[in-house]
Amino acid sequence: MFIEDFKIYSNIKIAENTFVIGVESNQKVDDLKPGQFFNIQVSENYFPLLRRPFSISDVQGNKIFFMYKIVGEGTQILSQKKIDEKINLLGPLGNSFNLQDDFENLILIGGGIGIAPFPFMIKQIPNKNYKVLFGVRTKIEAHNFGLKNVLYSSEDGTIGIKGNVIDLLDEELKNLEFEKTKIFACGPNAMFRALQKYLSDKNILCEVSMESAMACGFGICQGCPTEHKNSDSYKLICKDGPIFNIRDIVI
Ligand SMILES: Cc1cc2nc3c(=O)[nH]c(=O)nc-3n(C[C@H](O)[C@H](O)[C@H](O)COP(=O)(O)OP(=O)(O)OC[C@H]3O[C@@H](n4cnc5c(N)ncnc54)[C@H](O)[C@@H]3O)c2cc1C
Ligand code: FES
Repeated sequence: MFIEDFKIYSNIKIAENTFVIGVESNQKVDDLKPGQFFNIQVSENYFPLLRRPFSISDVQGNKIFFMYKIVGEGTQILSQKKIDEKINLLGPLGNSFNLQDDFENLILIGGGIGIAPFPFMIKQIPNKNYKVLFGVRTKIEAHNFGLKNVLYSSEDGTIGIKGNVIDLLDEELKNLEFEKTKIFACGPNAMFRALQKYLSDKNILCEVSMESAMACGFGICQGCPTEHKNSDSYKLICKDGPIFNIRDIVI
């Protein structure tokens, strides 16, 4: 884990309210894994005081890229950052998606900005049979930044199938053997709740990346607890996660 000032290399808009910021270190950044995140200091002023967590979206040599959606003050400030400005990163933090299992088919589900970790992840699975299912509310939120093999669902039917990612998943699973298929998902809790229900009677392994407001990002402040079915006490999303088996989490 390091705390380091990075130089901003790029900061571009890729869809409605959605940006990708690239930051550059003086040295090669090694050993980053898909699903891990960094806690980024978006401002040197007192507000917003806390760092903001963002998943690693891509890594190219000494550059790290983060895809983010503007939802509040911190992400608004981030969107105004200019090339060559400095920004402080704390990380890498958290566990990562487990890509070691020998599954034939991988399904990557991104709900909205939950798509963020997948460009980095698909670089690690070039020889796998995988599909990315990207659920948006409407077409202007959709993009294919760093993605391949993407299918879309939209609530208003303006791109892909009309419906949500669970409808899309249901279609995809019709052609796949459950025991040979693994699902990875990142998105809002409402999506996880629907996914947990949908998978409850199916023998499919599914890892999800959970979100929470975070302060420290590495287990000190106890500010990101989550109830876990196989634990006497709670788990911390920043340290024990953010990736959990969907069967273990209480959403
Ligand atoms: C491990 C992890 C990885 C993340 N990766 C990404 C990423 O790759 N790209 C990205 O855009 N966002 C990501 N997030 C969410 C991101 O951290 C928040 O959107 C960001 O902190 C909001 O900061 P803000 O100051 O703009 O908004 P705030 O002013 O802090 O909040 C604005 C609104 O967003 C809600 N909100 C804030 N944080 C979260 C959160 N963590 N989950 C759900 N709702 C939240 C608030 O309740 C409020 O309604 C991640 C969060 C976690 C925990
Ligand atoms: S954010 Fe501090 S313990 Fe998780």
